[in-house]
Amino acid sequence: MKIHVVANEQEMSIKTANIIADLVRKKPNAVLGLPTGSTPLGTYRELARMFREENLDFSQVHTINLDEYIGLSKYHPQSYRSFMRKQFFDHINIDGRNTHVPDGMAKDVEAECRRYDEMMFRYGHTDLQLIGIGPNGHIAFNEPADSFTPDTHVSILTESTINANQRFFQNPDDMPRTAISLGMRGIMSTRHLILIACGEGKAEAVANSCFGPVTPRVPGSLIQLHPYVTVIADEAAMTLCPNKLSELDD
Ligand code: GLP
Repeated sequence: MKIHVVANEQEMSIKTANIIADLVRKKPNAVLGLPTGSTPLGTYRELARMFREENLDFSQVHTINLDEYIGLSKYHPQSYRSFMRKQFFDHINIDGRNTHVPDGMAKDVEAECRRYDEMMFRYGHTDLQLIGIGPNGHIAFNEPADSFTPDTHVSILTESTINANQRFFQNPDDMPRTAISLGMRGIMSTRHLILIACGEGKAEAVANSCFGPVTPRVPGSLIQLHPYVTVIADEAAMTLCPNKLSELDD
């Protein structure tokens, strides 16, 4: 595990965007696993700038998103499909047919979960998987539980996640209580896993994920078992693990 401690969110975003851009330049048809949330916003902005100003070409790139709320159509402003369009896809030259987000309106959600896994299986793996982390250690919508869930599944959101994400909804009660989420196998079957985090609200989740026991109670802790992980976090998010850093900085 390589940990980069950066001064602030902007540095985190630029460093992350540079890694993604390097990959896309080397492998124009790269498959990127992408998250939503406030943490990746700066990264998406920086990649869009590189597209405009540095000819970074996304025309052959494929993307697979981590999750989607159940019950929100792709046109709903808070759906993750809509988020991705507004924050990233509309600002680059990606082919919409190469972008994948679970369908939160699927009549048969279990069938939608299987379809998503089969789609992932056809790709084999992602070249890079970017993830944020919830304050309770959730990644995608894999919530703390008694066991890890490997497959794409319906996740019942915890109070912690509802509290953390309600701020995006005009009426907080409109936030769905369930979501379709990639499972841990989908997330872990990537060549390069990048965890980004900023702010002290993530300090406990980052410390537990990088240095705590590997446990489904902290889903992010599973990243310790991945052979190629990069953590990019600001100082505030690293406050609970500063003196252990040198052990992991290979
Ligand atoms: C949601 C997403 C996660 C994301 C998390 C953190 O719950 N499902 O993929 O990591 O939010 O969000 P933020 O970056 O806004 O803190």
